[in-house]
Amino acid sequence: MDHVAVGPLDLAARVDDALAVQALAFGLSDEETAVRRHIVLRHFACPGARALGATTPDGRLVGFVYGMPNDRAHWWSTVVEPYLRSASLDHWLDNSFTITELHVHPAYQHRGIGRSLLTRLTDEAREPRSILSAIDTESPARRLYRSLGYHDLARRVLFPSAPTPYAVMGAPLPLRRL
Ligand SMILES: CC(C)(COP(=O)(O)OP(=O)(O)OC[C@H]1O[C@@H](n2cnc3c(N)ncnc32)[C@H](O)[C@@H]1OP(=O)(O)O)[C@@H](O)C(=O)NCCC(=O)NCCS
Repeated sequence: MDHVAVGPLDLAARVDDALAVQALAFGLSDEETAVRRHIVLRHFACPGARALGATTPDGRLVGFVYGMPNDRAHWWSTVVEPYLRSASLDHWLDNSFTITELHVHPAYQHRGIGRSLLTRLTDEAREPRSILSAIDTESPARRLYRSLGYHDLARRVLFPSAPTPYAVMGAPLPLRRL
């Protein structure tokens, strides 16, 4: 975390910087980045949407997280709802804060920035729980989420836009501290 500060992020103003981090961390083509740009701007206009950024002293964005209160009418929620409902877990979609994206520049990973972004964003949520989706494989993201108290609500969830299956995870708030 040395020299990197976590604080509120105006995602509308810094969308291109955020997507540059996401492209490096997660892998996005130019075409995917252009599509994401519209989606991020639309998300950030949703009621209750909030973002935090991790910034170097010279103002470079090296990580970000954003999310919003879950709305069953949102596309993400409509995709995961049948999976959760079939396991009688769809109450997780109500009174829940959704983490939409979390990415840290590869050169700044493993310093606790991801953990700090996620705990600080959810600490400010009014909802008693949080949900998210992550690629359904063992990954640093899945390990981080589990260590913070997220557990699997559904596996092998298929989003129409993505070839890889996702896991949906949920955690009570505030997130678990080590
Ligand atoms: C997931 C992601 C955001 C995590 O960010 P991060 O800043 O590396 O997260 P943290 O540093 O808080 O934790 C990651 C690991 O570093 C370890 N760590 C934290 N501080 C550390 C330190 N000072 N020294 C050594 N290791 C440390 C954590 O214990 C954790 O270990 P684990 O992988 O064994 O669980 C990042 O890996 C990423 O951007 N991945 C690609 C994009 C992605 O998958 N995003 C999520 C989409 S669902």
